[in-house]
Amino acid sequence: MASNITFIGAGNMASAIIGGLIDSGVAPATITATAPSDSELAPVKQRLGINTHTDNNAAVANADVVVLAVKPQIMRNVCEALRDSVQRQQPLVISIAAGLDADTIDQWLGGNNALVRCMPNTPSLVGIGASGLYANAKVSDAQRDVATQLMEAVGIVEWVEEEALLDAVTAVSGSAPAYFFLMFEAMEDAAVKLGLPAATARRLAIQTALGAATMAQQSDKDPATLKQNVMSPGGTTERAIQHMEEAQLRTTIADAMQACADRAQAMATELSGS
Ligand SMILES: NC(=O)c1ccc[n+]([C@@H]2O[C@H](COP(=O)([O-])OP(=O)(O)OC[C@H]3O[C@@H](n4cnc5c(N)ncnc54)[C@H](OP(=O)(O)O)[C@@H]3O)[C@@H](O)[C@H]2O)c1
Repeated sequence: MASNITFIGAGNMASAIIGGLIDSGVAPATITATAPSDSELAPVKQRLGINTHTDNNAAVANADVVVLAVKPQIMRNVCEALRDSVQRQQPLVISIAAGLDADTIDQWLGGNNALVRCMPNTPSLVGIGASGLYANAKVSDAQRDVATQLMEAVGIVEWVEEEALLDAVTAVSGSAPAYFFLMFEAMEDAAVKLGLPAATARRLAIQTALGAATMAQQSDKDPATLKQNVMSPGGTTERAIQHMEEAQLRTTIADAMQACADRAQAMATELSGS
């Protein structure tokens, strides 16, 4: 891992990644995080033992890696104020902001930067995230490895070679935790109608999702085979799956993911013009 990493922004996502890095053996002294006020930074400093700063420019002065972890809406101001320091220091820049394309951020930072754009998801906050990464042409193989290690601190990493594919990543993992939460809600409601207490239903549904995900992860069989293995002919599971297929669940999922990817693309256009 590169020697000095600076996080611009010390919120949920930055804290999760920093926590993961420290757990994986990165020295807290090599990590700096910034936020507008010391009151926000004090708990982070105390909990994680890292360096903190309220001055973004001072914090990138010795950075090999700069992680942009502020909200997309303020990214332009933050980047333009960092332009001179970043041009001087030439760090690897990693943006985790949703919906802002690499070229736009690069321009805001003065151009010609090695820049990785990352699409993480909220389970990163509990160390089981899934991130899609894209690197612009300036990023070296060694810098790609650094970005991989950084995001692997909070989960798995998949690289895409075309930036537009990050919209597909948004549809399959970025937004997808909510799809599963919807499924939990629906299963809980249905189980209550079948007579189970809501709390019991919730625990059973969540544990079953965890079990199914773990089986799918550990097995060398594909999901279709794992599904088939639970379905005995004429049995209960077969009847449930039949209903889902007849109700066009696959089409609903495909349409929802297309809508998600389309929205990601539209938001990038809106945010880049702001
Ligand atoms: N949370 C997720 O699951 C998730 C998923 C995918 C992508 N992302 C992306 O990750 C980024 C961060 O999200 P988050 O959930 O971690 O947001 P967050 O908790 O609101 O954190 C943002 C941080 O930026 C700080 N900040 C505000 N203005 C700043 C400035 N001028 N200079 C330096 N720091 C400043 C904030 O400080 P104050 O609180 O004092 O304003 C706060 O510490 C966003 O771009 C988001 O799109 C998040």
